[in-house]
Amino acid sequence: MAGHNVYVPQSAPAKWLESRLPVISLVRGSFVDFPTPKNLNYWWTFGGILFMVLIAQILTGVVLVMHYTPSTGAAFDSVEHIMRDVNFGWMLRYLHSNGASMFFIAVYIHIFRGLYYGSYKAPREISWILGVIIFLIMMGTAFMGYVLPWGQMSFWGATVITNLFSAIPLVGEAIKTWLWGGFAVDNPTLNRFFSLHYLLPFMIFGVVLLHVWAFHTTGNNNPTGVQPKTKQDTIPFHPYYTMKDLFAMVVFLILFAWFAFYVPNYMGHPDNYIEANPLVTPAHIVPEWYFLPFYAILRAVPDKLGGVVAMFGAIAILFVLPWLDTSKVRSGTYRPLFKQFFWIFALDCIALGYLGAMPAEGTYVILARIFTIYYFAHFLVILPLLGFLEKPRPLPASISEAVLKGGSGKPAAATAAPDTK
Ligand code: HEM
Repeated sequence: MAGHNVYVPQSAPAKWLESRLPVISLVRGSFVDFPTPKNLNYWWTFGGILFMVLIAQILTGVVLVMHYTPSTGAAFDSVEHIMRDVNFGWMLRYLHSNGASMFFIAVYIHIFRGLYYGSYKAPREISWILGVIIFLIMMGTAFMGYVLPWGQMSFWGATVITNLFSAIPLVGEAIKTWLWGGFAVDNPTLNRFFSLHYLLPFMIFGVVLLHVWAFHTTGNNNPTGVQPKTKQDTIPFHPYYTMKDLFAMVVFLILFAWFAFYVPNYMGHPDNYIEANPLVTPAHIVPEWYFLPFYAILRAVPDKLGGVVAMFGAIAILFVLPWLDTSKVRSGTYRPLFKQFFWIFALDCIALGYLGAMPAEGTYVILARIFTIYYFAHFLVILPLLGFLEKPRPLPASISEAVLKGGSGKPAAATAAPDTK
């Protein structure tokens, strides 16, 4: 991350520290002097927003734990105790539960930003792959967190998802029993989910540091996808992007606060206010909204094992995306055909999300199958072919040229050759 700093320690204590632990020059090099493309738009503020939400989740979570009891006999009541008796407990809980949803809103925007501007392409494959790992750990964390209040959806959601492992041939049943710590979702399951739910956010934090390190080594992508060439193409991270990020964070916090304080249960399910009862199955078992597209893929496949493979495959395919997209041009701004398929893909994901919330029957299943096939076709057929079939628009010679000649959408020199360097 360092290597860009112009920091020279002045005082004796600063010199002393610098020669032993150069933490000041590391931070200066990474977040103050760091040369950042001067044309980043607001879609680039979501990385910082994600970091803010991660910290907020850890802080609210650590305080919630002080009043929460991880046992099947007391969990539900301890959450009610937090809501009614603990000072500002209701606020902590609503910030934490809505914070999970806000985290996913931000991460989906962040991922789709990367998809549109080709941020996954060389040389940023490692940033992207670390991002997919973060996404997977986030999903695990959110899934286990939802089990903790021990409501009906907690219990039945955990039962449905852990049961999926039994589809694995030969060892499936053994894995399921091992995950449960018994022969049903019960106290040992709740205990281990609690332990992991506390641990995983710190792992996310660690992977985020690697993520940031990776794109600080390659430099940020930008809306043109053209690498900075001269000093004029970049500006120092501070104060330009610290201020832009801060502004975006405040706007995002307004939305977050609106959910947490005005409609705190809008994104939740009312059944989770009923204590878990292994003898009563809810009419519809639905996961949280952010899992719905993957849930639709799971149920679209008639075979249980096939469904599990398709669901995990839908995420795993992201790992190889940098090698599936064959286009030499990075940013979607200069790719007329890709742009259209990008939006069709986004609509496909939204449609899958809708179908995940519907009962798995009749037309819903048929549509889910069509949209699932399209989801995979986007990565396996469309993106590889587009690189050969599409004629990209001419790229600007540099970031400065794109900025000066009317923004990234307008290529300046029609003669400029396609450039990914
Ligand atoms: C806790 C979750 C995450 C945090 C805190 C985080 C943080 C960041 C930050 C601060 C940046 C630079 C600013 C920006 O581009 O917005 C960034 C860039 C990037 N992120 Fe993430 N990220 C997270 C998750 C993800 C995920 C899930 C993916 C993809 C699956 C991803 C892919 C990328 C890529 C490819 C870049 C380099 C992009 C560029 O400069 O265009 N990130 N991330």
